[in-house]
Amino acid sequence: MRLRTKILLTVFGIVIFLGLLMVSGTSQVIERALNSQVADKELSLVQVVAEDIANPLLDGDVLVVQRMLEAVVNMNPNNIYAFVTGLPSGMLIHTFPKGFPAGLININPVPPGERSSMRILDSEQGLIRDVGYRILDGLDAELHIGFSQQEVRQATGNLARTVILLMLIGMLTALAVALLLSRRILKPLEKLTLSLRRLGEGYLGETIKVAGNDELGELAVCFNQMSSRLKESIDSLRTSEANYRLLLNKIMTAQESERQRIARELHDETSQSLSALLVGLKTAATMAGQKEEGVENILEELKDGVNQALKELHRIIYDLRPSLLDDLGLIPALRWYLETKLKPTGICLNFNIGGNPGRLQAEIEIAIFRITQEAVTNIIKYASARQVAVELLFLPEEIKLQVKDDGCGFDMEAVMNPRNARRPLGILGMKERARLLGGDLEVRTAVGQGTEINVTLPVSKEEGYNGHQGFDC
Ligand SMILES: Nc1ncnc2c1ncn2[C@@H]1O[C@H](COP(=O)(O)OP(=O)(O)O)[C@@H](O)[C@H]1O
Ligand SMILES: [Mg+2]
Repeated sequence: MRLRTKILLTVFGIVIFLGLLMVSGTSQVIERALNSQVADKELSLVQVVAEDIANPLLDGDVLVVQRMLEAVVNMNPNNIYAFVTGLPSGMLIHTFPKGFPAGLININPVPPGERSSMRILDSEQGLIRDVGYRILDGLDAELHIGFSQQEVRQATGNLARTVILLMLIGMLTALAVALLLSRRILKPLEKLTLSLRRLGEGYLGETIKVAGNDELGELAVCFNQMSSRLKESIDSLRTSEANYRLLLNKIMTAQESERQRIARELHDETSQSLSALLVGLKTAATMAGQKEEGVENILEELKDGVNQALKELHRIIYDLRPSLLDDLGLIPALRWYLETKLKPTGICLNFNIGGNPGRLQAEIEIAIFRITQEAVTNIIKYASARQVAVELLFLPEEIKLQVKDDGCGFDMEAVMNPRNARRPLGILGMKERARLLGGDLEVRTAVGQGTEINVTLPVSKEEGYNGHQGFDC
C-alpha cells in the first residue's frame, strides 16, 4: 500500500471515530440538558395549576376545576391531557373528550411522603411525560398533566443533525488538510526515493533539490552529500584501479627488460671475458707443454681477466639485489647505494641516522631501500640539485625516511592529474609501497622550491627492530 493511502486512511479513520464519538456524546448531553429543563418547566406549570385548582376543589366546585383543566390543555398543543384523581368523593375530573383511558389512573401515582412524580408514557400520540402532583398535604388528591415530548425530541434531533453536519464539514476539512500535507511531505520523499533508485542503478553523483530547512531538506542535503562522496570514492577507486593496472603493466615490462639487460650483460661482458679466459688458458697450456717462455705473463693477464669477470658479475648481482641489504642491513646498503649513485654526478650527500637504529622487518627494509632508489633516480634525472639530504629516523613504533633535494621542484598537481597522458608511475609506486605496509608517503614540492619526500612506516612491536628474517622479494 502506498504511503499516501496509508496516511489518508489513518486520518480518515481517526476523524470518523472522533466524529462519531463527539456526535453521540454531544447529542446525549444536549438531550439530557434539554429534557431536564423541559421537565422543570412542566413541573412548575403543574404546581401553578395545582395551586389554582386547590380552592375550587375544597369548595367542591367541580365545574370550575374542569374548566381550568381544559384551559390548561387548550393553552398549548403539547399539553395533551389533565386530570385530577384521589378526590374523597371518588370522582375523576379529566379532559379526555372520549372518556378516561382505563390504564392511566394508576400509571404514575405520587409516592407517599412525596409531592410529585414523573413518568414517560409511550402512547399512540407518541411519548408523553405524565407529571403527577399532590394538590394539598394530607389529601390524596393528585393533579396529573400529560405533556407531549415530540417537540423536545424534534429539537434534540435537529441539534444532533446540526452537530453531524458540522462534524462532516470538519471531517472533510481534516481530509483536505491531510491530503495537502501528505502531498507536501510525500512529494520530496518520492523525489528522494526516485533518486535513491537511480543511485542504485548506477547513476552516481546525482543531486536532488528539496526546498526548506526542515527534516526533509536535511535529508536531501545528506543524500546529496552521500551521492557526491560516493561518486568521489568510486572515481578514486576507478583511478587507483587504472593506476594498479598501469603499475602491473610497468612491473611486467620492467621484469622483462631487466631479464633482457641481464642476459645481454652476461653475454656481452661476462661470457666475452670468460671466452677470452678460455682462449688464454688454452694458449698457456700449449706454451707450458712446449715449455715456451712468457707463460707467466699470460697467466698474469688471465688473473686480471678473472678479476674483471668477477667484478662484472658482482656489479650485475648488486644491481639485481644489493647483498649488503641482506647481509648488513638497511643503513650500510643505503649508504653504499647513495654514495655510488650520487658521487659520479657531483651532488653533495648528507646522510643522517636518528633514533634507535636496528634491523627491521625484511619488507620494511626493502621498501625503504626501493623508495630511496626511486627518489634518488628522480633527483638525478629531473632535479638538477646540488645537495641531497637523506634522513632515517628509527622511532619505537615507526620508521621515518626523508629524501630532500634543493633542485627545481615540480607542480605536483599537474603531474598527478588523472588526465595527464604520462602517468607518474614512480611516485605512484612509492606511495603504493608505503600504503601496502600500512604507512604513508607525502611529496612536498613546488616549482623552484626543491622536493621533499616523507615516508612513515609502522614497525610492528613484536618483531621490533631486530626481527630480521631475510628478504623474500
Ligand atoms: N626530485 C624531483 N625533482 C624535480 N622533478 C621531479 C622530481 N621527482 C619527480 N619529478 C617530476 O615528477 C614526474 C613524475 O615522476 P615519476 O612518478 O617518478 O615518473 P617518471 O620518473 O617515470 O617520470 C617526473 O617526470 C618529474 O617531472
Ligand atoms: Mg621516476
